[in-house]
Amino acid sequence: MSDEDNLEYRFQNLHEFVTVARQNLNRNNWDYLIGGSETETTLARNRMAIDAIGLRPRVLRDVSDVDCSKELFGKKLRLPVLCAPVGSLENFEPGGGATVAAATAAFGNGIILSSVSHPGLEKTAEASGNGFKIFQLYVRGDEAWVDDHVHRAAAAGYDAFCLTVDTDSYSRRERDIAKRHERRRVRPGDARIYQARFNWKDIERVKRISKLPVILKGIATHEDATIAVDHGVDCVYVSNHGGRQLDQGVGSLDVLPEVVEAVKGRAKIMIDGGFYRGTDIVKAIILGADAVACGRLYVYGLAAAGGPGVVRLFEILEDEVRICLSLLGVTGYAELDRSYIRQTRTVFHPHVHSVFPHLNLPKEHY
Ligand code: LAC
Repeated sequence: MSDEDNLEYRFQNLHEFVTVARQNLNRNNWDYLIGGSETETTLARNRMAIDAIGLRPRVLRDVSDVDCSKELFGKKLRLPVLCAPVGSLENFEPGGGATVAAATAAFGNGIILSSVSHPGLEKTAEASGNGFKIFQLYVRGDEAWVDDHVHRAAAAGYDAFCLTVDTDSYSRRERDIAKRHERRRVRPGDARIYQARFNWKDIERVKRISKLPVILKGIATHEDATIAVDHGVDCVYVSNHGGRQLDQGVGSLDVLPEVVEAVKGRAKIMIDGGFYRGTDIVKAIILGADAVACGRLYVYGLAAAGGPGVVRLFEILEDEVRICLSLLGVTGYAELDRSYIRQTRTVFHPHVHSVFPHLNLPKEHY
């Protein structure tokens, strides 16, 4: 095998996936992937929130054996990092969700499958086998339609059921609009009206009928975290949709502490929004997340080298987490607490790729 065929040789830094993904994707798919809404303030603040936390390492402890795994909903994850729901995965690799499901099962983490990615609920579950998997739904029909998906997810072997609740309107993605390449604008008579009507009464019903843990994705305040837990929701997923929905929002990691405080251990907590590095994952866990999801990051791996690219990407991310834990002086997440972090000054002007300073793309691709 030549060095070029050997993924371990080809991909040794996370940013190397981004470069190859850019080469493989056409401009429309690339801009859809990296873009946020309007001024992309929320997107930038996701990074800013993470960068504004500094780590406080402890030394001279035995860290010869570090464990990067963590449990979620009764299953052990090799790394507590899930693939966030991403729509239209098939535009990045023909197998879409099935490729990602098989890759995460092979690696040992998991996928949150978007209901708007092919090949759909059942086929993706099949591809995942015993792998950890969550089904995420956008509401595109009436109560019976939603309930049918709840039942189908349980029957197909998913580990949890996730509803995204921050998309009552589809935002203005200006990179797409500027090219007249809009994908999902809601128009009158559109089935997306069901999402806009969906409310806490529906959550009550879904909780009543679901055999699976219920996750609400898109919680961005302690007020809604409290209401969610009062409705028996099993997992609060802190997210601003990767800065793709409401602009001028707060960085995800900045929201996490108030949500942790409101939830008070009564539900699991997940988060996404700008997490690209092992150190990012560790910061989220220190602040109370049970698991972190990444969206753009794994799609770079997928677009660069398909399923094996996703596996290779998570190997590198796991290495970063292991190095971070050992350099903090701990052998696992349970030893961490807030004494390992402090607020500090940021160093980079935040943007979608500011976490990768060695990335060498022409300016128009940032
Ligand atoms: C998006 C939808 C699909 O952000 O979640 O593009």
